[in-house]
Amino acid sequence: MVSSGIDDAAGARIVPADAISDNEMGLDIGPQTVARYAEIIRSAKTILWNGPMGVFEKDAFAAGTISIAKAVAYSEAISIVGGGESAAAIAKAELEKMITHVSTGGGASLALLSGHVLPGVAALNDKLKTRTPVIAGNWKMHNTWSEARALARAIRKGVGDTARVEVVIAPPFTALPVAAEEINGSGVTLAAQNVHWEDKGAFTGEISTAMLKDAGCGMVILGHSERRQYFGETDELVNRKARAVLRAGLQPIICIGETLSERESGKHEETVSKQLAGGLDGLTDEDLLRIIFAYEPVWAIGTGRTASPETAQEMHGFIRGWLFDKFGKNAGAVRILYGGSVKPDNIDALMRQPDIDGALVGGACLEAESFLRIIRFQL
Ligand code: PGA
Repeated sequence: MVSSGIDDAAGARIVPADAISDNEMGLDIGPQTVARYAEIIRSAKTILWNGPMGVFEKDAFAAGTISIAKAVAYSEAISIVGGGESAAAIAKAELEKMITHVSTGGGASLALLSGHVLPGVAALNDKLKTRTPVIAGNWKMHNTWSEARALARAIRKGVGDTARVEVVIAPPFTALPVAAEEINGSGVTLAAQNVHWEDKGAFTGEISTAMLKDAGCGMVILGHSERRQYFGETDELVNRKARAVLRAGLQPIICIGETLSERESGKHEETVSKQLAGGLDGLTDEDLLRIIFAYEPVWAIGTGRTASPETAQEMHGFIRGWLFDKFGKNAGAVRILYGGSVKPDNIDALMRQPDIDGALVGGACLEAESFLRIIRFQL
């Protein structure tokens, strides 16, 4: 709908978009555009609306905006209206109650939804944050008995007050008892890197949850990408192991993450959803509260190539959203760690992201000094 100016209601006429003359301006969408938008809105599952269709403050040019407001309000989709003007349009149409969420922050709400950190919101989140950060060191196949003793001792000495952060170390099986002895009474949690899913039996070379508890473990890393890649660990096995770990009263740290080719072909979310669905099959929202997740993009592990804080946040947000869909509100309390080339010089930026609740550290946890600097991340 065009006219010579916003005060010229009488001169308003509806024309195709390519037939606006030089002395006219577009002031509203016409019925054909309304119909096309409404059709798309009807089939949408989630609608983000930011910006009215025209000068809706003038009744002569409000019809398009009001029609779209109605289409959004009557749709079955989750609807989020952002921006002072769109919010005013919804209010003018008296449809606020039919919108899932109306926000007066326009550009800001879109930026937030797309994973950007807004300093004001981050400050509030920090105040409200009940998820104690976890910094876990995965020693992988490193450290003999005496090396493990020295490293665990140095960590214990340097760790100080651990109330701010939950510190976890995961030595190889043989070093668990000596590490347990060194960290005893310090608040540092001992974790294993793997476990068998049966409680006991003829499983040569395997270790049970009872043995890990006996050795002083409180947590077990499951489904690390190296176990998936080199030892054929499937989502189904991760699920069986997670059940055994929960049954034993231990906490699983479940690792998920896509390979480089999955990321490059745009399948990262699909991969992670599949790993979550398989790994958590049959578990309850109560179980969820005892699980820690580690998002570790395989292309970032041991390569020195970290995901940027924004890329990591995007995936952490996606994972939390997935958990919300499946388990409901408990997802808000779940810790999701980032892993993959975490170092003293990138931990701070990672930890400033709202959905990154800690780190699973490989290479940089083998030197006490660098691990301790990671534990002392600065927000
Ligand atoms: P990285 O390993 O820090 O050496 O990349 C992380 C991990 O595999 O958990």
